[in-house]
Amino acid sequence: MSTEPDTQTSDALDSELAALLDVERFPPPPEFREQALLKDPAVYEQAARDPLAWWASEAEQLHWFRRWDTVLEDSNPPFYEWFVGGTLNASYNCLDRHVEAGIGGRIALHWRGEDGEERDITYAQLLAEVKRLASALKAQGIAKGDVVGIYLPMIPEVVVSMLACSRIGAPHNVVFGGFSAEAVRERMEFSQAKLLITVDGAARKGKTAPVKDRVDEVMGGLPALEKIVVVRSKGTPCQMQPGRDVYYEEILAEADAECPAEPLDAEHPLYILYTSGSTAKPKGILHTTGGYLTGVCATHRYVFDLKPERDVYWCAADVGWVTGHSYIVYGPLCNAATSVMWEGAPDYPHKGIWWELIERYGVSILYCAPTAIRACIKWGPQWPAKHDLSSLRLLGTVGEPINPKAWLWYHRVIGGERCPIVDTWWQTETGAIMITPLPGITETKPGSATRPLPGVFAEVLEESSGEPITEGQGLLVLTRPWPSMLRTLYKEPERFVETYFERFGPQTYLVGDAARRDRDAYLWVIGRIDDVVNVSGHRLSTAEVESAIVAHPDVAEAAVIGQHDEDTGQAIVAFVTLQGDLEGDEGTIEGIRATVAERIGKFARPKRIIWSEDLPKTRSGKIMRRLLRDIAEGRALGDVTTLRDPAVMEQLQHKISERQAEED
Ligand code: WTA
Repeated sequence: MSTEPDTQTSDALDSELAALLDVERFPPPPEFREQALLKDPAVYEQAARDPLAWWASEAEQLHWFRRWDTVLEDSNPPFYEWFVGGTLNASYNCLDRHVEAGIGGRIALHWRGEDGEERDITYAQLLAEVKRLASALKAQGIAKGDVVGIYLPMIPEVVVSMLACSRIGAPHNVVFGGFSAEAVRERMEFSQAKLLITVDGAARKGKTAPVKDRVDEVMGGLPALEKIVVVRSKGTPCQMQPGRDVYYEEILAEADAECPAEPLDAEHPLYILYTSGSTAKPKGILHTTGGYLTGVCATHRYVFDLKPERDVYWCAADVGWVTGHSYIVYGPLCNAATSVMWEGAPDYPHKGIWWELIERYGVSILYCAPTAIRACIKWGPQWPAKHDLSSLRLLGTVGEPINPKAWLWYHRVIGGERCPIVDTWWQTETGAIMITPLPGITETKPGSATRPLPGVFAEVLEESSGEPITEGQGLLVLTRPWPSMLRTLYKEPERFVETYFERFGPQTYLVGDAARRDRDAYLWVIGRIDDVVNVSGHRLSTAEVESAIVAHPDVAEAAVIGQHDEDTGQAIVAFVTLQGDLEGDEGTIEGIRATVAERIGKFARPKRIIWSEDLPKTRSGKIMRRLLRDIAEGRALGDVTTLRDPAVMEQLQHKISERQAEED
């Protein structure tokens, strides 16, 4: 692993430049600070002095059936346990306790469908539906500990499904709706899901995708999978297999309206979420109940300065990624927030739909990915200008570095220069936000996620010595356990240790990102150091894409890299060698892209395919992706002497310049 690859991208240079010049700094606006939940910088020292007491006091904000005996059990690192001995239930914390506190009439979700349909769902209504589905799942044979797959679009039923699972202690395994049915199958197989909740069809910019039919094509032959529950959402006709498939609405109608929330151990698995790693096999990140809920609840409140009685909060991610799990479902509901949930894309039915929704619901907090901001910059300021955005008081970003230009546009055009911006760094593995400004305290610098939250300890280590760096670039690590950390990789504990804790030992979590620490100790996250690429904030493994490409019958070999991209942060470039003397043409390109869409999902399709007779390999046959990245980014080539055939690089360089000339 090397910290070098992604550091030279122009976004990174952009941010490095901003840091070097230390151009503009943005202190919290005084009127914001005055009202902020956290405004005294002493919270950092307080948490640093006694992190366990800090987290325990956050855990106190939750409802526990039984209080914990031990805050942190750390006798077997890196297998940490939090709030040991305590019992609680996530669905109870997100629903029942609010209804019991008399705020059941508050709107939990303002759901808006692609065609303009609206459903305002209160906490009391959400609870009633969750109880019914939880009873129905039990009636279908689901018991505590059984894994339930969820493959649903952005409809309220996805939230109901997740909470119904957590109510009965059945860990959910949600798969993002943009993944293909094959990817769902793989994730169901790995997690041995017993039941899958899916949908007849999903809205896709005015069209309907036949989801259930696609699922049927691939879902046979999984012995563990006994049932498929189908939400009738779009009325898309679909085949129902007797004995296996049931309609959501029908099982709900027959279900018992009561279903008490099961008291679960703090360390009971809440969910598995597959994410991409260095190899083609996705990693099943396992989160448990007490620590995770403590982490997402506290961070959602403090980072977004949430005032649940007044705020309307909108996290514009998809529920199928960790951002959706933590900041659409568990964090906001645990805090009794009112949220907006939008079914569709940011550019359908028109490019101003986000701003229309902000005006319509009076959104005060918006949380989205820098890619979306860059798309809006491209579409032009006339779209937001048509709407009253004065309800906004705080803006957030997540998922990828934000270049200062996009940051400043967000600040001026969307935030009207009055809203603090929280650039939140975290990962599927961390469960909750780790590095971010606190909006009432931290002075921000565009492009920097600033500093770790109170109770979180991050350092930048020198790559070879492992020594902490006070100013400069190296490997980002987290040096103490935190409550919402992943507990293991599902069914792969050795891989868990090896991936995150082998390099610096069981006390030091290796993040997988390179970062720079500036002279004010601000952190600038640069990008991945492993073979993971980040396309529009979506995390993908190059190995996974490669293995999809070689599934195409004409392909002999493929190497995939992430290349800097103005719009999507990174774009996928594939170097492909075809079988025998086959010649690649437009048809082959389309065929390869279709294969990737089928195996993983459309979002993983390579943007560029470059034919190459050979790939740069070491004498032992290992593909040197570093060299491919160098030529794709137009950098001087590093050492090529270890290559089996150095001439390969010349040919490739030639091809790339040809391609660039064509594209220009
Ligand atoms: C990247 C998404 C820079 C990073 C919540 C990380 C970021 C990976 C930021 C995790 C940010 C996320 N600035 N980079 N604010 N947030 N990343 O698991 O490379 O989908 O390791 O979690 O996204 O992606 P994941």
